[in-house]
Amino acid sequence: MYTLTIETTCDETSLALTSKTKEGLFVHSHLVLSQAQKHAEYGGVFPNVAKREHAKNLVPLLVQLIKDAKIKLQKIEIQKETISELKEVLQREPELFVHLATLLKSGFFIPLEKIVVVSGPGLDPAVWVGVNFAKSLAKITKAPIVPINHMEGHIFSTLLKGDNPYTIVKPELPSLALLISGGHTQLVLIRDFGDYKIIGETLDDAAGEAFDKVARMLDLPYPGGPEISKLAKEAREKNIKLETKFPRPILKEGYDFSFSGLKTAVKYFVDDLKKQNKLTDEKKLAIAREFEDATAEVLSEKLTRASKEFKAQSVIIGGGVSANSHIAEMIKKNIEKDIYKAPANLTGDNALMSATAEFAYPHCQIDVNELKSDPNWSIETVKPC
Ligand code: KG4
Ligand code: ZN
Repeated sequence: MYTLTIETTCDETSLALTSKTKEGLFVHSHLVLSQAQKHAEYGGVFPNVAKREHAKNLVPLLVQLIKDAKIKLQKIEIQKETISELKEVLQREPELFVHLATLLKSGFFIPLEKIVVVSGPGLDPAVWVGVNFAKSLAKITKAPIVPINHMEGHIFSTLLKGDNPYTIVKPELPSLALLISGGHTQLVLIRDFGDYKIIGETLDDAAGEAFDKVARMLDLPYPGGPEISKLAKEAREKNIKLETKFPRPILKEGYDFSFSGLKTAVKYFVDDLKKQNKLTDEKKLAIAREFEDATAEVLSEKLTRASKEFKAQSVIIGGGVSANSHIAEMIKKNIEKDIYKAPANLTGDNALMSATAEFAYPHCQIDVNELKSDPNWSIETVKPC
């Protein structure tokens, strides 16, 4: 029997097929389909485009997942009433319904013991697609549904160890997690698996969002994080520096973050250069470097200070922005404790991270009819079952 995990909270459609073995978590197949190209023209994720793309891609991705996993499917009998139920559940995703009904005509499906779905936090229209897909599969297979919190998934992406089957490292507790993504920037104190306290978060833009917006100002494509990072690296190699220092907002105060002032400072600076026709490629390198330095300094300073105050025994860096090597290096310089970071293929959104969270300790199941999108689900309300 298998566990299927569904991730659709932002602009990645991802599925994982796993099972629990004596040796650990066995990953039969894991697929991540990025919609980044579709959102590029908007310079950020456009929720209704994300919803449309998830609905279009989930069943083809599931078909590929089954192919890659090379598992034996189970014969299933679908009653007419089930099809009507599916139609109702998927009334807002008609394309998904058509794809799923076509797939079911084969008369075979995955023998599922559990359906894990990431039901928040995230972009509401996007999360709903995954939620309705999970509901439909639960009606088909009668497998129970386990909702997982997306931020908790980012924590567990850093704790996978070994090769397939994977085991999970338990960090020394309490641990402090810096979760940095396109939608969130949080400092989370981990007292135990399933026992979390947010000790700081962004008051405005998320770190990844600031990277994306600054990239747009510099006419770089979305997602902007890797692009800025590339330019910043080149600037360091060529020793190109900006004569101006951008602000490091609320650096020494508390544990909340604010990136909008920094972003605005970059905007004024860039606008000014554009007016004077002086935004050269070399200036772009220097701006990217100074912006990355400012962001890295704020993140690292707050994490370091908080880890001392809360006597953290280990540190976790998760989320899409954790792919940034400059930020990670700065943190490593300042913190002597064990630092857990996801491998490069798991820093961004993916289903495996949430499959890992569910594997690590038991989460509560939810009645299929009660499951809904929870776009603002706080990690603080997660608890073991
Ligand atoms: O966790 P994630 O994949 O999606 C959300 O849950 O939001 O994070 C995506 C964010 C984007 O803003 C992207 O620009 C940023 O992560 N990102 C980076 C890097 N790689 C991705 N930011 C800075 N440096 C990077 N190397
Ligand atoms: Zn994420």
